[in-house]
Amino acid sequence: MGTATAPGISLLCIAHPPVAPSPKVTACSIRHRQRQSSVATLPTVSIRYKKVHRYLLHNGDIRDTRDAVLSPGQTGFMNGWGVFSTLRVSDGVLFAYPRHYARMQRDAALIRVPFTISPEALHKSLISLIDANHALNATLRVAIVRNKGGLFEAPQIASESDLIAFTADLTNWSAGVHLNFVPNGRHGASPFSGLKVTSWAQNLTWYEKAHQDGYDEVLLLNEHGDVSECTSANVFIFRGNEVLTPPLATSGCLPGVTRAILLQEIHLPDWNIREQTITPADLEAADGAFISSTTRDLLPVLTVDKRPLKQASDALNRFLDAFRGYRSAYVLEHSRRKEMFAL
Ligand SMILES: Cc1ncc(COP(=O)(O)O)c(C=O)c1O
Repeated sequence: MGTATAPGISLLCIAHPPVAPSPKVTACSIRHRQRQSSVATLPTVSIRYKKVHRYLLHNGDIRDTRDAVLSPGQTGFMNGWGVFSTLRVSDGVLFAYPRHYARMQRDAALIRVPFTISPEALHKSLISLIDANHALNATLRVAIVRNKGGLFEAPQIASESDLIAFTADLTNWSAGVHLNFVPNGRHGASPFSGLKVTSWAQNLTWYEKAHQDGYDEVLLLNEHGDVSECTSANVFIFRGNEVLTPPLATSGCLPGVTRAILLQEIHLPDWNIREQTITPADLEAADGAFISSTTRDLLPVLTVDKRPLKQASDALNRFLDAFRGYRSAYVLEHSRRKEMFAL
């Protein structure tokens, strides 16, 4: 695994282009820009990479990240055939662990990745990783990689799948995000839409291109031209007293844990939060918008395609406070029960 990790580069400043009105973007102009973007060599891009911590978890063992623990004969390693999740460690507690476990289990079944470890056993192993790295407040990524099947398979591989997890520091995100549109970035009708699978290269390419062009993330549109999500975050807009997010069933977005907590657990008087198809025009006319993810919490969208969006700062702060309050209560409750690894 150590050989497969990206080189750690400490935090770099991202320079945003000056915000100036630009002509309405059409799918055609976006396609043109994408064609222009092809690169022969790796571009120089400033991205907030994180260094992974010293120890990783490989199956049940704590290993040094410099140890080679994976083999090219593992089908999932070479084909991106695996599932993963990114969790937040808060005061040593794996926030919303059962939701992450359930999503991985669902994804593993859909994409045929053997995922047999019980929630209790996985939780116990992840806690041992947190302890090894003293990563009490951190990001934790866990992946299950399929080892067999496909067109090439190493003869010596015994286990059906490998479990790999590592931790890294939390990212210090900026106060808001600048986004641009990417057409056809998600396919809502695909049976595999919304899966958190290790074949992540498309997302990373869009993310890198966004930074190269001076944006923080991209707004991926689906096959109908509706807003789906970002490469690693869900999207919400404020409209009147409603907070709207693209539907899981049709938009092609991933069922984010943060999104689910907002929809199911956060109840603010005067606000109705629900799924609704969102067009690019809806977004641009919204009273405000934000993106959500495990590592970011909620971040306001400042501009889309360099056009400033209205800001709903008071409303956003209320949702952010409520979300963080929910997490604090969760952490308090689960740190009391941690000794027993109660989930
Ligand atoms: C494509 C995509 N959408 C949404 C999210 C947000 O999900 P969560 O809230 O579980 O972090 C992520 C997280 O990485 C993601 O990769």
